[in-house]
Amino acid sequence: MKIIIINGPNLNLLGKRENDIYGDQSFSEFFGKLQFKYREVELSQFQSNIEGELIDKIQEVGYDYDGIILNAAAYTHTSVGIGDAVKAIETPVIEVHISNVFAREEFRHVSFISPNARGIIIGFGLQSYELAVESFLAK
Ligand code: DQA
Repeated sequence: MKIIIINGPNLNLLGKRENDIYGDQSFSEFFGKLQFKYREVELSQFQSNIEGELIDKIQEVGYDYDGIILNAAAYTHTSVGIGDAVKAIETPVIEVHISNVFAREEFRHVSFISPNARGIIIGFGLQSYELAVESFLAK
């Protein structure tokens, strides 16, 4: 099974960024543990701060991979382009967020991804990504 985690803007700063909200672990540290735990899964990851690069990656993997775990970060709330890319492809997308966006500012309550996601996992810290992997495995 081929699954990719696609992370949007500022998620390269996990571990250094607003630790009270996002925790103190870097994504690469977390990802290493996740890969080890799910050794039977071909698990890869991609991060970009650039909207078009995220769309290119979604298109590139979207007809070939078994699952996409997408945390579009701030672009979740603004990007019609990323929303359209998720709608266009065939690979199922699970939208994840580390923080509970509904307990935060109102602009974070809007998502251009959710209408076309298979499901949404929000607010479990980095464990949100793990729960998304589990949901693909359970299918
Ligand atoms: C986030 C929530 C977004 O509102 C925010 O812009 C992020 C991270 C999360 O994972 O909690 O950068 O997607």
